[in-house]
Amino acid sequence: MKLQAILKAITTAFVAVSQANNITYNVVSLVPHNQTMGVLIDDRIYPLTETNKDSTLLHYGKAPKSNSGHYKYVILLKDNHQMVQCENFTRVVTRQVKSTLNECFGRPWNKFNLPLLPTILPPLPVINRVQTKLHVDGEIPVIHLFGNQSEIDLVHKNQTSDIKIELNMTYISPKDIKSFQSITIGLSGHSTRGMSKLSYKLKMKKGTDLYGYRNIKLRATSADRSYMRDKLAYDITRSVGLPSSGYSYVRLYINNQAIGLFGVAEAFKKPWSANEFNHGHKKQEHGTLYTTDVGNGKNIFGSASDDTFGGKKNKTEPVYDEINRVGRSTCDLSYLGNNVSLYSSGQYSVKEEPTVGTANFTKIMDLTKFISQQPNTTQADNSTVSLWEERIDVDSFLRGMALEVILSNSDGYLVTGNNYMLYDDNKSGRLILSEQDFDLVMGTSMYNITAMHGGDYTEFPGFTVRPLMPRLLAVPQFKQDYESLLVNITKHLVNPKILMPVIDGLYSMLFEEVTWDQSLPRVGSDLLLDLIEKSNSSAVNSGRSLFSNATFKEAVYGPDLSNSTMNLKQWLAFRSNNLLMFFNEK
Ligand SMILES: *[C@@H]1O[C@H](CO)[C@@H](O)[C@H](O)[C@H]1NC(C)=O
Ligand SMILES: *[C@@H]1O[C@H](CO)[C@@H](O)[C@H](O)[C@H]1NC(C)=O
Ligand SMILES: *[C@@H]1O[C@H](CO)[C@@H](O)[C@H](O)[C@H]1NC(C)=O
Ligand SMILES: *[C@@H]1O[C@H](CO)[C@@H](O)[C@H](O)[C@H]1NC(C)=O
Ligand SMILES: *[C@@H]1O[C@H](CO)[C@@H](O)[C@H](O)[C@H]1NC(C)=O
Ligand SMILES: *[C@@H]1O[C@H](CO)[C@@H](O)[C@H](O)[C@H]1NC(C)=O
Ligand SMILES: *[C@@H]1O[C@H](CO)[C@@H](O)[C@H](O)[C@H]1NC(C)=O
Ligand SMILES: *[C@@H]1O[C@H](CO)[C@@H](O)[C@H](O)[C@H]1NC(C)=O
Ligand SMILES: *[C@@H]1O[C@H](CO)[C@@H](O)[C@H](O)[C@H]1NC(C)=O
Ligand SMILES: *[C@@H]1O[C@H](CO)[C@@H](O)[C@H](O)[C@H]1NC(C)=O
Ligand SMILES: *[C@@H]1O[C@H](CO)[C@@H](O)[C@H](O)[C@H]1NC(C)=O
Ligand SMILES: *[C@@H]1O[C@H](CO)[C@@H](O)[C@H](O)[C@H]1NC(C)=O
Repeated sequence: MKLQAILKAITTAFVAVSQANNITYNVVSLVPHNQTMGVLIDDRIYPLTETNKDSTLLHYGKAPKSNSGHYKYVILLKDNHQMVQCENFTRVVTRQVKSTLNECFGRPWNKFNLPLLPTILPPLPVINRVQTKLHVDGEIPVIHLFGNQSEIDLVHKNQTSDIKIELNMTYISPKDIKSFQSITIGLSGHSTRGMSKLSYKLKMKKGTDLYGYRNIKLRATSADRSYMRDKLAYDITRSVGLPSSGYSYVRLYINNQAIGLFGVAEAFKKPWSANEFNHGHKKQEHGTLYTTDVGNGKNIFGSASDDTFGGKKNKTEPVYDEINRVGRSTCDLSYLGNNVSLYSSGQYSVKEEPTVGTANFTKIMDLTKFISQQPNTTQADNSTVSLWEERIDVDSFLRGMALEVILSNSDGYLVTGNNYMLYDDNKSGRLILSEQDFDLVMGTSMYNITAMHGGDYTEFPGFTVRPLMPRLLAVPQFKQDYESLLVNITKHLVNPKILMPVIDGLYSMLFEEVTWDQSLPRVGSDLLLDLIEKSNSSAVNSGRSLFSNATFKEAVYGPDLSNSTMNLKQWLAFRSNNLLMFFNEK
């Protein structure tokens, strides 16, 4: 053979080998129509020209395995494959693979190694939670919703209305791709509907689910420049053994628009109770799930673009009691009288009917009556312990109320008489309490900041105003249990030593995401800030300063830009110190 022929044979053989070594590269990125993705391997660019049939965000293609073990994703012009953008870090081929995970352009990791919270109290015996991959720690999947753009615009332009539309959805995590048809989506939240970054609720068709769940919430966390208060509070709620949602993050896209970084939380709707209390077995019996809904049926943004929220013109007054300095509420377990319809007309809403029979508000009415009959000032003895235990799972109430105080929750049972759930456990016949929606916690507050963060829990706003706590704590045993919960949860969980590593981890994980989120145009308008600014209530801190322009770093580590929000780090040290000092545990 001539030398040339030999060389040609070698080259052909080499190319054949390297082509046999081709692997599939998968990368998520939103690129304009005249651009495409590519991968840079050993100084050569290979276009990735295919897109997934269920989402144009996911680009893929075959290219050789890297000899150097390194590669980068690039963005190319479609017509001449000229490079437009290149990742500024190097990816490492870590194992023998035929296909990469579904990677994200510009993000150097697929799974972030996130420190986890310890579990400090055993889950309540009633909890039998299903195993689910809905929330994988350290992963940030993509949710791509797509459909009729004018319907989407209608939802966003009418943000205070309750318009629901159907869209298709593709869910892309590092390992999975799942597609869904005809998801019902709408906006969620009450006051947070007035923010320019909106929250969504998604409902999947009957017979379909995302890792066992059909109803999920995409939480915008728009009142929280740290993006992590909701996450921390949900995780802490689980860590003290209360029924709750898991919590993770996603990147949301709608059609060809990036919407932002969102928290994923489970909506307390079917089949949530089966998942939380019966290992996901839908045929097993469960009881009624109620939540409290102060804002239900009310539109606080006036009638400019809305007539679906009750239709009253005069509805911009804040629901606030100037004398007691807390929100007025008809669902704070006050006894409203002996007519059961007073409890069922919007105060306590049924989120899930029981598997047998229908929701029975008599249970709640009877409980509020019982509470109203207990002494609220004079010390009772322990003889009423069993009377309480017959009606409620006292542990769940004490843990929930401990969390409200420890987390400086200004939108829960104590301060606003809102945002908690009651589960009627059909097995024990008792009501169980837990909490949800942690927008205004951990140093973000609409209320007197001194009182929200002080060590003396009896001065916490609402503590002696709402009917429950003065009466529950009149029982010596419950008072002792409650105080030891306050000390225990603070000492073992909500303090800088345990929580700061988790906060630092979340900060690192979210840094690029937050930068991305804050660079995006918003689809809604800032109605709430205008409303708060117009309101003269002495209670409500200035809206502009509440939702301040703090950077992500300032929101987490300080310094504070206003005196109504505290950065997370300072809040944490201040909060735990005040509580432990009060109990002489420092
Ligand atoms: C690519 O398309 C965008 C609009 O989507 C346009 O602004 C840009 O000029 C185009 N670039 C090229 C090189 O054609
Ligand atoms: C391997 O990838 C290269 C570059 O994309 C392509 O030209 C070639 O056809 C692929 N070979 C096989 C066997 O798929
Ligand atoms: C890469 O770019 C991002 C911004 O897109 C920046 O935050 C990061 O520090 C850069 N990394 C390196 C290694 O230059
Ligand atoms: C306090 O916390 C510790 C450690 O997490 C736990 O073992 C103990 O049972 C708790 N005690 C009370 C009274 O809750
Ligand atoms: C949703 O998916 C179905 C089935 O693939 C398809 O027929 C329909 O056109 C899709 N709708 C939109 C808006 O893309
Ligand atoms: C949505 O808002 C527009 C004006 O912004 C209004 O004309 C329309 O009636 C509203 N639609 C609904 C369903 O509320
Ligand atoms: C709104 O409510 C206030 C206080 O309840 C009342 O004084 C005022 O007249 C009402 N305005 C209208 C337009 O009904
Ligand atoms: C509701 O529960 C009460 C006891 O709490 C019971 O007496 C009543 O029959 C129940 N009503 C219905 C309609 O099930
Ligand atoms: C305590 O009970 C008395 C008598 O029932 C009642 O008048 C008073 O308002 C109650 N106080 C609180 C703080 O609930
Ligand atoms: C806030 O609460 C503290 C402690 O309860 C109290 O001393 C202070 O006067 C309150 N400040 C305002 C502005 O109400
Ligand atoms: C009530 O029970 C607690 C805890 O079991 C006990 O420490 C306390 O002495 C009891 N108090 C009375 C007045 O019986
Ligand atoms: C953020 O800063 C800009 C300019 O400094 C100001 O106009 C805007 O009102 C601020 N927004 C908030 C929410 O504080």
